[in-house]
Amino acid sequence: MATKSALLGSSLTKKYWMALTGLFLSVFLIVHLAGNLVLLGGKEMAENFNAYAEFMTTFPIIKITSYLLYFSILFHAFDGILLTIQNRKARPVKYHYEKPSANSNWASRNMAFLGTIMLFFIVGHMATFWWRMKFGELPLDAAGRKDLYTVVEVYFTTASTALLHVLIYVVAMIAIAFHLLHGFQSSFQTLGVNHPKYTPLIKKIGVGFAVVIPALFAIIPVYMYLNQ
Ligand code: HEM
Repeated sequence: MATKSALLGSSLTKKYWMALTGLFLSVFLIVHLAGNLVLLGGKEMAENFNAYAEFMTTFPIIKITSYLLYFSILFHAFDGILLTIQNRKARPVKYHYEKPSANSNWASRNMAFLGTIMLFFIVGHMATFWWRMKFGELPLDAAGRKDLYTVVEVYFTTASTALLHVLIYVVAMIAIAFHLLHGFQSSFQTLGVNHPKYTPLIKKIGVGFAVVIPALFAIIPVYMYLNQ
């Protein structure tokens, strides 16, 4: 049953917003990955990557979309915390015959834990790259643009810290994979997409998305580390 609470009414409404913001964040992941794959081109592609980063941080429509993105990240996280608290309150004591593994998978039972790892990752990640791009004093490349390529390269190749940074990114991508494994198909269910033909297809696409997108993200730091 839907329980009333302070932010945004019932738990059903909260789930709707989780689904909508989650799908929006999934679209962001595709766009962000497409831009970041340029990093695999190495130094030869550095100016292209810097041009892309400049475009993403200055072009007006994208700038406005970015604000929607920051809001969605915060909203998705906050709404998720409220939903978790609400669900725990609704059933504080587990039934003694309850066997969670029998009717739900590990990812679906640990969405809050996986989401928390992602939130820590995103805060650290934005402090490392986004903050420096926006507010930092960066060296300029030959075309006079902020040289974000070198910032990323140094982060994943500086001898004393690179391995740790690469490991953090790979672990975070594994957490994202599991979060998406449940989140992608669950958001369609929440939005009421329930069809004998399309639901199995959505589930398959969800698994593909949850594996391929984080795997491609993870390849970037690993590749930069190994190819220095
Ligand atoms: C190897 C993986 C990744 C690399 C190398 C990378 C790199 C970067 C860089 C260089 C920026 C600053 C420039 C820009 O705004 O484009 C950035 C921004 C950002 N990244 Fe990533 N990223 C990675 C993965 C991720 C993942 C998995 C997420 C989310 C779960 C994420 C979330 C963000 C966000 C929210 C921003 C700010 C975007 C904006 O201002 O519009 N990144 N990333």
